[in-house]
Amino acid sequence: MSADLALATQNLKRRGFLDLDVDPTLDLAAEINRLKKERNAVILAHYYQESEIQDIADYIGDSLGLSQQAASTDADIIVFAGVHFMAETAKMLSPQKKVLLPDLKAGCSLADSCPAPVFAKFKEKYPDHVVVSYINCTAELKTLTDICCTSTNARHIIDSIPEDQPIIFAPDVNLGRWLVKETGRDMVLWNGSCMVHEIFSHEKVTKLKIAHPKAAFIAHPECEAHILDMADHVGSTSSLLRFTRESEYQEFIVATEPGILHQMELASPDKTFYPAPPNNTCACNECPHMKRNTMEKLYLCMKYEQPEIILPEWVIEKGVKSIDRMLEISARAGL
Ligand code: 13P
Ligand code: SF4
Repeated sequence: MSADLALATQNLKRRGFLDLDVDPTLDLAAEINRLKKERNAVILAHYYQESEIQDIADYIGDSLGLSQQAASTDADIIVFAGVHFMAETAKMLSPQKKVLLPDLKAGCSLADSCPAPVFAKFKEKYPDHVVVSYINCTAELKTLTDICCTSTNARHIIDSIPEDQPIIFAPDVNLGRWLVKETGRDMVLWNGSCMVHEIFSHEKVTKLKIAHPKAAFIAHPECEAHILDMADHVGSTSSLLRFTRESEYQEFIVATEPGILHQMELASPDKTFYPAPPNNTCACNECPHMKRNTMEKLYLCMKYEQPEIILPEWVIEKGVKSIDRMLEISARAGL
């Protein structure tokens, strides 16, 4: 091992990634493809990744699709171009495989908003309740969860629970409120939120709608209710993508992380897409966690097979049950 690699490995925990120089003349796409074959690795990427990473991935999808891929792949190594909870989910579903995440600090404000020890205390107040957790939560929270869900299958999951069974929904209060409205179920909600989806500006979206009166306004259910109330269509990333492909509209104002626009533009090159404007002054609505992954970090993590996701055995054994139940219900619903 070179001195540089030894130092980068030593600093891995603190930095989150292998902090090594990459030759700027290297064809990273070609190198990543070569390493993929050499290591029998599969790259799973979320729609919020930068477009170069999406273009090199073996599979691009939403949280449900990514979990289904992680459960069924026959690759030896899963390289997760996404955030920490997604890579943890992949590890829980395929514990015998090596799961790599280009940057361990690619976290999630929703997952952070619900620490497992605090939630465990909260749960004690509702001993008769079933816990449904949005998959955007830590592996440890999944050990306190009965059924996971994603925004693609959340309605099906809630509907699968008997009507007289009370439910706690965690950690996303916005998705929770939307589900209460959609399903008519009165759930106890944990008060967490996504830092990206809660900053869309009602005023700026209204102005954009006036400027583009023929555009459909589409939004992810992690957005706040006042934004969802304005939407022509609400759905997960894959649902939003499908809507832009299949609907008659030619223009769309999109209220979710703008990484999804890459697939929307590829699928419908003649249509026009406007990212919904946020409240903040720098006008940025990119997810800082998702965007921690870069082609350089992806290349380095495949070359040196680290950083790797390691989970305690008890967390995998206990937590995976909530993901398995979600996948079973989804399969029965044809999702
Ligand atoms: P989906 O892609 O499942 O809609 O999730 C969105 C999201 O915020 C992932 O972090
Ligand atoms: Fe988490 Fe929101 Fe980023 Fe998704 S977009 S990873 S929910 S912070």
